[in-house]
Amino acid sequence: METEIVSVDNDMDNSKSYQQAVDILKDGGVVAFPTETVYGLGALATDARAVQRIFEAKGRPSDNPLIVHIGNKEDVDKYAVNVPENAKRLMDAFWPGPLTLVFHKRPGVIAENVTPGFETVGIRMPDHPVALTLLQTLGGPLAAPSANRSGKPSPTEALHVMTDLQGRIPLIVDGGRTGVGVESTVIDMTVDPPAILRPGGVTREMIEDVIGPVTAESKSAGEEAPKAPGMKYMHYAPESPLFVIEPDEAVIRDAVRQLHAEGKRVAVIGPNEFDIGEADWYFPVGPLHDNDAMAVNLYGAIRQCDLTEADLILAAGTNFEGVGAAVMNRLLKAADGKRFNR
Ligand code: TXA
Ligand code: MG
Repeated sequence: METEIVSVDNDMDNSKSYQQAVDILKDGGVVAFPTETVYGLGALATDARAVQRIFEAKGRPSDNPLIVHIGNKEDVDKYAVNVPENAKRLMDAFWPGPLTLVFHKRPGVIAENVTPGFETVGIRMPDHPVALTLLQTLGGPLAAPSANRSGKPSPTEALHVMTDLQGRIPLIVDGGRTGVGVESTVIDMTVDPPAILRPGGVTREMIEDVIGPVTAESKSAGEEAPKAPGMKYMHYAPESPLFVIEPDEAVIRDAVRQLHAEGKRVAVIGPNEFDIGEADWYFPVGPLHDNDAMAVNLYGAIRQCDLTEADLILAAGTNFEGVGAAVMNRLLKAADGKRFNR
């Protein structure tokens, strides 16, 4: 299969490109498209055969449920039942946006393999003009996980999707780089209090400001809430072992020297202003403690490390402010919990 890229990131009339994508989707195919978080790999969520193609293209375990993307808030009731009042408040506050709400699913509407074996369904309305235009032109729901091969970091640009899925999908709609850079927050609204299953662009503080206390089992140390099935798989794994290290120039320099003494080549992911001349490769991810910039740049930097000959990756951590909680969650996943302290 030839993989085509169509760019919609300009002022031209893109209606032909959207129609091409919609034709493929209506015909039971899959299409990669940008959202404000990461690129998604979409299929019509009501078509089980189309959804099956997502799992095949990604090499994704078929017991890990997919998020359903909608183009209008009102569509929630088509796919979910017993939507609680506090969920409506969250939808009003944060949709369109990087927040996935898990509800009891309406039986018999969404294809069974979107949420295999689950009575629940995760739904979100993405805040990206391309995703919204695609959804509204299609006039139906899109099941869409991140558009990476299973085990790779989520794609934040069309080129990442091409690298992972070339020859496996027919079309990538290129809308430029994504804005948030890490995946949506997932919150389970079927329990009381609601439970954050995956930290993301909408922070716990933002949610609690709207609906009061929630639980967040994965708020630190890369530990995962067992109910987010995706969390049991090791995600975002780089080719070489990655260690999280203190964001301190002298500490990182020392670490690189030690590793060089052991004959290892080292790639470093860190803030723009650090000058680690010793590092064999250095990938800056924004100003120190600018967690928004770090979220935008992190997955691209991990992918760049994969293109080097590094034996080991050191990634400077950050604090848990704002999207920092999500960044540290992903970083510690990529590290499989390992921190560099010698
Ligand atoms: O930002 C995002 O959420 C991106 C873009 C494309 O929308 N999508 C994304 O999908 O990250 P994916 O499949 O890579 O991650 C979905 C996560 C998984 O951890 C999955 O287990 C969890 O959401 N999830 C989905 N449906 C669920 C449900 N019904 N109950 C519990 N967790 C669910
Ligand atoms: Mg994913």
